[in-house]
Amino acid sequence: MSTLQVNVGDRRVSRSDPLSPDLINYLKESMRESVQQDPPYVFVIFGASGDLARKKIYPTLWWLYRDDLLPKNVHFVGYARSDLTMEKIRDSFEKNAKVRDNEKDKFEAFLKQNTYIQGSYDKVESFKKLQEFNDDLQKRTKQPVNRLYYLALPPSVFAEVTQHLKEACMDYGDSWTRIIIEKPFGTDKDQIYRIDHYLGKEMVQNLMTLRFGNRLFGPSWNRDHIASVVITFKEDFGTAGRAGYFDTSGIIRDVMQNHLMQVLTLLAMEKPVSLNAEDIRDEKVKVLKSMPPVELKDVIVGQYVANPDSAHPEAKAGYLDDKDVPNDSVTPTYCMAVLKVNNERWDGVPFIMKCGKGLDEKKSEVRIQFREVPGDIYAPGELKRTELVIRVAPNEAVYLKLMTKKPGMDFGVEESELWIYPTIVAIMVSVYLMHMSVYSLKSLWDLKSILSVPMSLNMHGFGGVIPGVDHTNLDPSGRSDLLRTIDKAKVHKNPSIFDLA
Ligand code: NDP
Ligand code: BG6
Repeated sequence: MSTLQVNVGDRRVSRSDPLSPDLINYLKESMRESVQQDPPYVFVIFGASGDLARKKIYPTLWWLYRDDLLPKNVHFVGYARSDLTMEKIRDSFEKNAKVRDNEKDKFEAFLKQNTYIQGSYDKVESFKKLQEFNDDLQKRTKQPVNRLYYLALPPSVFAEVTQHLKEACMDYGDSWTRIIIEKPFGTDKDQIYRIDHYLGKEMVQNLMTLRFGNRLFGPSWNRDHIASVVITFKEDFGTAGRAGYFDTSGIIRDVMQNHLMQVLTLLAMEKPVSLNAEDIRDEKVKVLKSMPPVELKDVIVGQYVANPDSAHPEAKAGYLDDKDVPNDSVTPTYCMAVLKVNNERWDGVPFIMKCGKGLDEKKSEVRIQFREVPGDIYAPGELKRTELVIRVAPNEAVYLKLMTKKPGMDFGVEESELWIYPTIVAIMVSVYLMHMSVYSLKSLWDLKSILSVPMSLNMHGFGGVIPGVDHTNLDPSGRSDLLRTIDKAKVHKNPSIFDLA
């Protein structure tokens, strides 16, 4: 005998046959549908087959899901041209997801929320498959579906993808549609959010706390006390299968005008009125407005060449050896540039940015070099500059290089490191997706305004001297013999690199 149980208000009512099992199922189904469910959300990852999806997006989505930080009724759709299955996608990111033994069931539940759709970026028909998924979900939940489209794709396809989304995948009803594009970007739209994943890094967020949460640094954070600021980004691997994207971008667009520029503005800005995103943005913009265009004489560009001795298998070959890189490519994989902030606080202090792929190590850090002590009473050359080092990766750390007395009978000095924050801080990658920065002042972030290069070319190879810059700490790569300098005249002619007006 079947029993039907129904909740009426807070009372549970039971009723036995004569209802047939079919009728019971029908009633149960109708009741389930009539119960208001959590609103449905769809998170679509375009470029689900790619490096960013594998290394960051899928793992981050899993961590957010694991920690119950996402809406209950969330679905994830991977979309790309490659012939993939969810099994293959799982294999591609499971190692990065770092699933612990006691999380395995939840991980399986997360995977069940995932779907893969194979489709092209240039045909609206493919996008209709995506819309069918949304429609189906809408039908099942009887609620409008909120959609977030994450374009983990090369910028070259942003335009067609957003166009097709507009044509086929929007909902103009009660739900919202959001589009996230990755750097390097160049246009500004109301429904396009722009993200810089460097802002999600614990140590980049810490820059503000260090500066504005400690009395120690405030008074000396200026041209009177600081001699130079060096911001370094080095990777010990090359394009890692991403040459198709990288060759159209180059290192300047890939990391310098976005990640490193974010770091620079956080280091140089005045204290914002509050921690509110817009107040911080306003202060960053003032820094950018105080920066004159970078001069070509202050820029060094290069490309990594083969290093058969490299420990990293992928860096054994040079950039031009990559089958997806044209033989005559002048896309820089390395750049060093000196930037200036012409305001009262920073006038005359060089901000030196160095970044490159295929270098000797993976490291991302900031070095603030303080000026020499006036009226030196020690033996000539004994005192070294005080230096504050903020290491973003690997192993986040903050330490201060100070002069201390050498133990012993005389007053000899030596350099010591004062570790302010010696523990390895876990990178809160989950912040990555949540910490979105929206910038409306698009033109300030365009390479055109930051790196507009005058016509007079003054070529410096590696080891060349940039006037006014202290070169003692400036070896561009630590392995300059393994880079070839690029003729800047050629780079200049290639609009995809120095995007000149
Ligand atoms: P990939 O080269 O891995 O590209 C992602 C996917 O896009 C590929 O799997 C491929 O998918 C598709 N694709 C590649 N080239 C083209 C092309 N020429 N035309 C159409 N589709 C193409 O790049 P990433 O994932 O590394 O980068 C994607 C975006 O994310 C870039 O804008 C990058 O700046 C940004 N980014 C990357 C980070 C990273 O760590 N990798 C970090 C932060 C930002 P399929 O062929 O299957 O469709
Ligand atoms: C991305 C660049 O924005 O940042 C990559 O496209 C680079 O080329 C990556 O490797 C570095 O980020 P992270 O977080 O791995 O240091």
